Amino acid sequence: MRYPRELIEEIRMQNDIVAVISQYVPLKQKGSSYFGLCPFHHEKTPSFSVNSEKQFYYCFGCGASGNVYGFLMEMENMSFPEAVQELAQRANISLPEPDQSAQTLAAERLKSRLMEIHKIAGRFYYDCLQSDAGTYARSYMQKRQMLPNVARKFGIGYAPDNRHALYDHLLQQNYSIEDMVQSGLVIPDKSGNGYHDRFRGRLMFPIFDVQSRVIAFGGRILDSGEPKYLNSPETPIFSKSRNLYGLHLAKATRSKELILVEGYMDMFSLYQAGFHNVVASLGTAFNQEHARTLKKYADSVILLYDSDDAGTNAALRAIDVLVQNGLRVRVTQVPDGKDPDEFIKQNGAKAFSKLLVDAVHYISFQIACIQRKYDNHIPEHRVRFATEAAAVLSKLESDIERNVYTTEVSRMTGVAENALQSEIKKQRQKEDASFQKEAEQRRMRLQRQYGQTEEAEKGVLDAQKTLLYFSANHKYIYQALKQVLSKEDFPTPVYADAFDAIATLWEEEDHVFVAQLISFFEDAPSQRRVTEIFTTRALDDETYDLSKGINEAVVLLKRTNIDRKIAHSTTAEEIQAWLEEKRKLEALHITI
Ligand code: UTP
Ligand code: MN
Repeated sequence: MRYPRELIEEIRMQNDIVAVISQYVPLKQKGSSYFGLCPFHHEKTPSFSVNSEKQFYYCFGCGASGNVYGFLMEMENMSFPEAVQELAQRANISLPEPDQSAQTLAAERLKSRLMEIHKIAGRFYYDCLQSDAGTYARSYMQKRQMLPNVARKFGIGYAPDNRHALYDHLLQQNYSIEDMVQSGLVIPDKSGNGYHDRFRGRLMFPIFDVQSRVIAFGGRILDSGEPKYLNSPETPIFSKSRNLYGLHLAKATRSKELILVEGYMDMFSLYQAGFHNVVASLGTAFNQEHARTLKKYADSVILLYDSDDAGTNAALRAIDVLVQNGLRVRVTQVPDGKDPDEFIKQNGAKAFSKLLVDAVHYISFQIACIQRKYDNHIPEHRVRFATEAAAVLSKLESDIERNVYTTEVSRMTGVAENALQSEIKKQRQKEDASFQKEAEQRRMRLQRQYGQTEEAEKGVLDAQKTLLYFSANHKYIYQALKQVLSKEDFPTPVYADAFDAIATLWEEEDHVFVAQLISFFEDAPSQRRVTEIFTTRALDDETYDLSKGINEAVVLLKRTNIDRKIAHSTTAEEIQAWLEEKRKLEALHITI
């Protein structure tokens, strides 16, 4: 997919990078740069900078960098054309139909056929539910108090208990078997001779994307049996870790606070009871992508997972992910080991509202989970409780919050507040130290990476050798090169020294004898390397384009050098200056 370059540039200019990034990351201005917490790695002190003048971002911690398109691609997991489309829309610029490569075109077409298949399947299951075949399923729904008008809104259907119902239906509509299989709704028989429907004899919950298109299904068995819910597999249009059940409905409420539940039925029942800002995590572990998706629509989340051990552990994990992504989190649980669906049916919407009002800050929940493990009558247990609680509290960034909850934990454990405070302080220092160490390691890795590629990259080695070879052999080339090159431009120390030596020889002796040059070096390996410059290359060949070879070599060295400087820079201003230098390289030309 390709748009004209001028249009891409026009769209880029119409989307100020600071404004775009601010929608995701709170930024604080410092000079012409803005700083915030890096969205691409976990950190506590801001090392993510956005340069408004030069319109790029750079993270000193993890090295993430790019322009406004790059940011969206990273942040939203978009392709380049998707980022262009998004920003064009944001700037009210209309786009022409993009040129597409045959391959992306084929992929796009497959996706739209799979969407169609899902739409038809959804309609088919819906009709089956209303038909005679759906009698039992309808009575099941009645038993579970699922109201028909709400079920319609959710597109609830029924997959008949027949091996080929959907398969036959799709075949009639001329869909290829290959597409049916790709959709995940039809499966090849083990025997290899035929095909059958994935979903049979199940109540069908269509899964919608945010644009309200059916992209997958979950099917509940009507009686006992395994699995209770069968879900669509991963397909070109459905990824479990990216989609949340009910988000298209929750989004429509425009509520900045969403309730997160575990199950299809929980979502359904809450919606039916009038709580429309609900999403379900589809039985998978709640992950970073889920959190980022939620963050687009909400800034706070009420976690309402089942109160059994599995639900509690899942909630504790979800908290970490949500908090890391900058969402405010409160937690509430349904009493007596029930799930939200059962609770609301038994106790009604009003009682449920109260549960929401009673939702506690996630820290209280974490502390309560720790407390549950210990018996407060045993001193040893109190010690462990207080220590683990201190670890949780040490992660709170707000001094006020830390203070309030420290008092709380002190009350719960009987451990004096100042003892807790000093433990928290210790843990924070430890964390800071390990954070610093991590940052240092990352920086070293980055440097090593640059160092190694410098050494390892044959191109850079060759470029240095080429330049040394010619500047030693021809004075006029040396004189042209010394206008633009210095010792520092040679990343390999022995070659840098060789350039220095060549300069000395030309300036002081007006000739360069290779043997003499070699004797500038006292150790054998260096001598070997300098010698190699003159032995392994055959550049005097008639066909060699001298001017081109030298210009390319100089630009390569300078560029590599600047990249290394950028990697070592510690301020946005420094980086800016180096990027400017890099830009100037485009105009560099040495006349030989
Ligand atoms: P639960 O076992 O808590 O089911 O699984 P539930 O939501 O209470 O369902 P009902 O009330 O018995 O109908 C929670 C969620 O985990 C996923 C589903 O998304 C389910 O809603 N799950 C569960 C599966 O995907 N497969 C299963 O076999 C079970
Ligand atoms: Mn349930």
